[in-house]
Amino acid sequence: MLAPVTISDMYSIRAACEADLTAVVELLVRLQADPGHHIGYHGTTAEEITEELTQVVRDWPAGAVVGCDEHGAVRAVLSAEVRPELGRAWLYGPFVDVPTGHPAARQVWQNTADELLDLVTTLPRLAGVTDLELYGHRRNRGLGDFAARHGFAAGSASRVFTLTGSALRSVLVGAVPDPVGPRRLDNDPETRAQVVELHERCFPNRTVTGNQLVRGARGHTVVVLTGADGVIGYAAGFVQEKELYVDYVAVDPNMRSAGAGRSLVRALLRALAAAKGVRGQAAAVIALGNDASERMFTALGFGLHLELVAYRRR
Ligand SMILES: CC(C)(COP(=O)(O)OP(=O)(O)OC[C@H]1O[C@@H](n2cnc3c(N)ncnc32)[C@H](O)[C@@H]1OP(=O)(O)O)[C@@H](O)C(=O)NCCC(=O)NCCS
Repeated sequence: MLAPVTISDMYSIRAACEADLTAVVELLVRLQADPGHHIGYHGTTAEEITEELTQVVRDWPAGAVVGCDEHGAVRAVLSAEVRPELGRAWLYGPFVDVPTGHPAARQVWQNTADELLDLVTTLPRLAGVTDLELYGHRRNRGLGDFAARHGFAAGSASRVFTLTGSALRSVLVGAVPDPVGPRRLDNDPETRAQVVELHERCFPNRTVTGNQLVRGARGHTVVVLTGADGVIGYAAGFVQEKELYVDYVAVDPNMRSAGAGRSLVRALLRALAAAKGVRGQAAAVIALGNDASERMFTALGFGLHLELVAYRRR
């Protein structure tokens, strides 16, 4: 005979503390590998997830809640990356680990996720936040249902493109360096100001501001292409344990469709590999419908890896 099903209060929910980090990372590594649980803000390895929680999400425990089973083991988590000056937060989760074969798995997932959301939004760290975002794999159906129930509107999908194997090697070891091609961003204040301006114009209100980008405050390496009239474009990214990640690329609207974007991405990947060592994969996230960007990346050999959906409630 089956044990009685307890749907609510399966896990007790509480604010996270620093000591939870190791257990949270272990849980997330397991759940991130499954598209049904995958959240777009996180990588898949322990190193990537640790870095995201300790460096991208600043002061992680202040914006995180966990759900624990009767033995005190962490089985659920929801973390928030907060930008108080924008009144915005990006919710990393909810992650809920329901025992395999549980007869009410869907309800347990949803009820626990609701409790995580209720508590996280009351944390002092989220005071004044009115704009929330979720981001998950298209096959994370629990997240889609959760978003709809809580009044989050589904945004457009974005697609993760990756470059591996010989295509990556040929980008990294390709042509002789071009003296008038892209170069690492230096300390020239005028060039830096123009990169900041182009970033704010192309990516307004993103998690990383133009100033943070050029200062390297969020760990980015930046390459820039300049011409007679100043900055033509820039590309910025960082290195993760297994991946060279292209985070931002922008070209002045008057200078597009002439190969500048492509040469910036190539130069960025080389700069990242030179600084931190070659990785087996390069990746970029492209909004569905950004055809110019998709064309630029596919011309370099990138291919579609997975599709993610963002949900937003304002
Ligand atoms: C994406 C971006 C960086 C590309 O820069 P770029 O210098 O034009 O890049 P490239 O010239 O190397 O490649 C762009 C390709 O897209 C094509 N293209 C341009 N507009 C297009 C459109 N609306 N639909 C389809 N293809 C388009 C170009 O013709 C070119 O392809 P081709 O060389 O085969 O003809 C630039 O459009 C941009 O700054 N966009 C705004 C910011 C942004 O979206 N960044 C990407 C975030 S992932």
